[in-house]
Amino acid sequence: MKIAPSLLACDFSKMGEEIQKIDKAGADMVHLDVMDGHFVPNLTIGPAIIKAVRPYTKLPFDVHLMIDYPLDYIDAFADAGADIITFHIESMSEPNMTIQKIHDRGLKAGLVIKPGTPAEMVYPYLDKLYMVLVMTVEPGFGGQEFMEDMMPKVTAIKSECKKRGLDVLVEVDGGISEKTISAAAKAGVDISVSGTGVFKAPDTAAAIKTLKNS
Ligand code: DX5
Ligand code: ZN
Repeated sequence: MKIAPSLLACDFSKMGEEIQKIDKAGADMVHLDVMDGHFVPNLTIGPAIIKAVRPYTKLPFDVHLMIDYPLDYIDAFADAGADIITFHIESMSEPNMTIQKIHDRGLKAGLVIKPGTPAEMVYPYLDKLYMVLVMTVEPGFGGQEFMEDMMPKVTAIKSECKKRGLDVLVEVDGGISEKTISAAAKAGVDISVSGTGVFKAPDTAAAIKTLKNS
């Protein structure tokens, strides 16, 4: 299981140092949450901030777009240094065009589903995807409770991929801690995002190690 700490819970006044800290502690990628105040009722960071912190690590940047029109911003996030761009199937952009645009920029594409969206919604796109992100909280805020009842969606996506001979990673996001990560592991999750579980822990490095070991 790979761990992608979410910077949403880090100290925003020293993001560069926070990134270096998780890099040293064994994080596998950096999860960056982009919110536009429309798709979700919160505002966070955009391409300028991502570009500013890009030099602090060589770890892949996993950029989670919670915005209404992801297609319009793929170039901006590609220029900023994203490696993986995930966008919501519930957004206003056409999925095939958006995936194509991400690929045109040489990046990996992922689709995200909110808790109320069935797994089957991503099936038509699986052969083009690097990753499916299954939200385990309602997107918008960190520090919410893990929804274990999303795990059947993880198993369903994994088995659909297996049936079709596809190697698509499944990521979960929201409420992942040392208490909840074993449920994700059992369901076959490849990557777990963790914000609060990493950055609000007394020892960030220890928290990442514990998550990996569990
Ligand atoms: C929620 C974000 C998550 C969030 C996870 O909309 O997509 O990445 O930061 O935070 P925790 O781990 O605190 O639930
Ligand atoms: Zn996220």
